[in-house]
Amino acid sequence: MSDGLRVDHVVHAFGDRVALDGVTCQVPSGRLTGLLGPNGAGKTTLMRILLGVLTADGGEVWLDGRRLADVHDRRAWGYMPQERGLYPSMKAGAQLVHFGRLHGLSREQATRRARDLLGELELGDRWDERTDRLSGGMQQRLQLATALVHGPQVVVLDEPFAGLDPVAVEQLSAMLRRRAEDGCLVVFSSHQLDLVQDLCEDIVMVDHGRTVLAGSVSRLRAASGQRRLRLQLGSAERGWLDAFDGVRVVSDHADDLRLAVPPGVDPLRVLDAARSVGPVLDFGLELPTLSELFLAAASGERVREPVR
Ligand SMILES: Nc1ncnc2c1ncn2[C@@H]1O[C@H](COP(=O)(O)OP(=O)(O)OP(=O)(O)O)[C@@H](O)[C@H]1O
Ligand SMILES: [Mg+2]
Repeated sequence: MSDGLRVDHVVHAFGDRVALDGVTCQVPSGRLTGLLGPNGAGKTTLMRILLGVLTADGGEVWLDGRRLADVHDRRAWGYMPQERGLYPSMKAGAQLVHFGRLHGLSREQATRRARDLLGELELGDRWDERTDRLSGGMQQRLQLATALVHGPQVVVLDEPFAGLDPVAVEQLSAMLRRRAEDGCLVVFSSHQLDLVQDLCEDIVMVDHGRTVLAGSVSRLRAASGQRRLRLQLGSAERGWLDAFDGVRVVSDHADDLRLAVPPGVDPLRVLDAARSVGPVLDFGLELPTLSELFLAAASGERVREPVR
């Protein structure tokens, strides 16, 4: 596949500290891709290398089959850095127009796009508001708008969802999905693995500077072969579990029991066994969450799709 970004064995160290240890992954155009991993995994370092603001010690980055050389190859990209950079005293609308102008838009184009974007982000009534008088989440949306104002084909966003309320998260991800559906390449990072599992189609999960999982979220969750049986029980009795080889307790808080059921065990038999000892108030069958997959992958269990 030549369409999209290809990261090929990228290595980077800060002095003795290896931040990226041969990370390899593919980010297609036309889909929303999450770059996930815990704090310190190397996400920001990788994004800065993608952008060309940091030079890798080794490895290559390709876009649509063409190797990227320097920062000029990425001039038209949209970037939202993790450390935000808005002018506090500038008004929201003027700020967006300014960033649009920096990317070469005429004043009229920049103003039109800024108005459309602020409307899309439900900040239309804040055009004349000083940036430092917006709430934290609003400033974050404005920061996102500065990355999108010039209509970039490649959009790289570092932790765009951090600190946002659930409605804003949903609104922002819908907006990013629309950009992806229009053919853009959109990649964002997040350390909140389970927050994003419903937001993006594809993920690249990194840990200690390496790719540990990559592929479509639904395929990865299904491919593990594991299911989670959630039971809300009226009894604290758990002895009945002993009859099931390989069924593992994921969590057991108050009346809520969460079990990992391996491929060879019928979850309905487990449910029946629970009902035989006491009332089952609620139950559900779920796929493992991304953080559960991450924990399994980080501990060396093989649950991954081949890294493309
Ligand atoms: N400028 C720097 N100088 C020295 N070490 C750095 C620098 N930037 C990052 N590192 C180190 O590189 C590793 C990866 O950091 P990075 O910021 O890429 O992680 P991250 O995945 O973005 O984490 P977070 O979720 O906390 O944002 C960490 O061990 C970090 O301490
Ligand atoms: Mg980071």
